[in-house]
Amino acid sequence: MRSVITGTGIGVPPHLVTNEALSKLMDTSDEWIRVRSGIQERRYAEPGQGSSDLGAIAARNAIADAGLTPTDIDAVIFATMTPDHVLPGNGPLLQAALGLRDIPTFDIRQQCSGFLYGLELADLVLQSGRYRRVLLVGAEVHSPFMPWHLGWDTVIGLSTREVTEAERAANTAIRDRTVLFGDGAGAVVIEARDGEAGLGPIRLHTDGTAAGVLMMPGASFKRRPFVSHEQIDAGETVPVMSGKEVFRTAVTLMPQAVREVCALSGLAVEDLDLLLIHQANLRIIEGVQKALGLPPEKVPHNVERWGNTTAATLPILFHECRQQGLIKPGMNLVFTALGSGLHWGAALYRA
Ligand code: UT7
Repeated sequence: MRSVITGTGIGVPPHLVTNEALSKLMDTSDEWIRVRSGIQERRYAEPGQGSSDLGAIAARNAIADAGLTPTDIDAVIFATMTPDHVLPGNGPLLQAALGLRDIPTFDIRQQCSGFLYGLELADLVLQSGRYRRVLLVGAEVHSPFMPWHLGWDTVIGLSTREVTEAERAANTAIRDRTVLFGDGAGAVVIEARDGEAGLGPIRLHTDGTAAGVLMMPGASFKRRPFVSHEQIDAGETVPVMSGKEVFRTAVTLMPQAVREVCALSGLAVEDLDLLLIHQANLRIIEGVQKALGLPPEKVPHNVERWGNTTAATLPILFHECRQQGLIKPGMNLVFTALGSGLHWGAALYRA
């Protein structure tokens, strides 16, 4: 029995935000963002639209694509670091929105590796034999992290108001992170099937000693109160990141993880037909591609149009590759990701 992806879908937020639009709010430029990250535009959700809402759009599309109805789903895995609420998680909200049966829903939060960890969990759930169809969703709404009240209307094109000097300075102080992230959702239906196609070896890793390289210090239950105006004013509710360290780690550990799953499957790296990498930065994607000696055409990317959507990058990329006809039966694919935790790893998938 193999775990086979039988349907995919995405949830596209309404606001398309260019680098040019961001440069109205802070000291940045289209050139800086393109050269350092490859990103040209990203999408932002509507105020009041949560990751569960985007996830529900993606999930409906994936279920229909699989030729199923919502009541066919036996379990949900929802990966996000930006849930609608601290409690409950997005799983129950999605279940209610889609009218699923009273099935179990798992909320997981491995940030950029959320979808990859979700694949492992889905595989284990299906291998147990107790469930036949799992819905795996990766969805994020990052825009509320960003202090877009300092120019929200301007960034989504509803106003031509110029931000004040003080607002511009505050936005500029966190520009290294805000320009990178976008909102979005992707979902896949995974079914237990006989045959050659499906998930192969998966290797997951965690290094908690590096938790500090990408984390959010505020809105923490180690603080009393757990969130306050002081924390917000001090920027502690925006994630902090040692960008260069994450970059270096990503271009080292993702290739290692890819080699691991290839070795476990008895494949040479050059036998891979496609490598689907977490879409954080085009320079990281190209770094991993070169480290593995793969030709660029085997390593598709869409970070240019979406920015970094954390748990949503891999299901969105997989969906777009399917739409473009890049994934053909019998192909060997590897998914790989690295992010806050640190969590990283790779999963082999035979189409
Ligand atoms: O999803 C997984 C988690 N995240 C990642 O994988 C991200 C990993 N890291 C990166 O992608 C890169 O490190 C960044 C894109 C975040 C930054 O690129 P970098 O080449 O490491 O730039 P830097 O941080 O060294 O900054 C270079 C300069 C600095 O100015 P000075 O000190 O040289 O005068 C920054 O202040 O660029 C400045 N800068 C900006 N300038 C314009 C930083 N952000 C911006 C900006 N616009 N948005």
